Amino acid sequence: LIRAADGTLHAFNATCTHLNCTVQYRSDWEKIWCACHGSRFDTATGANESGPAPRPLQSWKVEVSEKGEIFVTRA
Ligand code: FES
Repeated sequence: LIRAADGTLHAFNATCTHLNCTVQYRSDWEKIWCACHGSRFDTATGANESGPAPRPLQSWKVEVSEKGEIFVTRA
């Protein structure tokens, strides 16, 4: 789950689409990154931008209730 600078929330499956390593957020690059083979993904769309990952990260649906509770579900 990532909160963009404009407050928008984005959620993705943290499993890399290359060989299933767990991805992580790199604040220095402002990208989602896979340490196994260096794939990088866009933080707003999950698009694969570089490295061997063949597909975008699976995005999940984010909803915020009136109480501010955050719900993430598989889209
Ligand atoms: Fe993520 Fe290879 S498993 S780049």
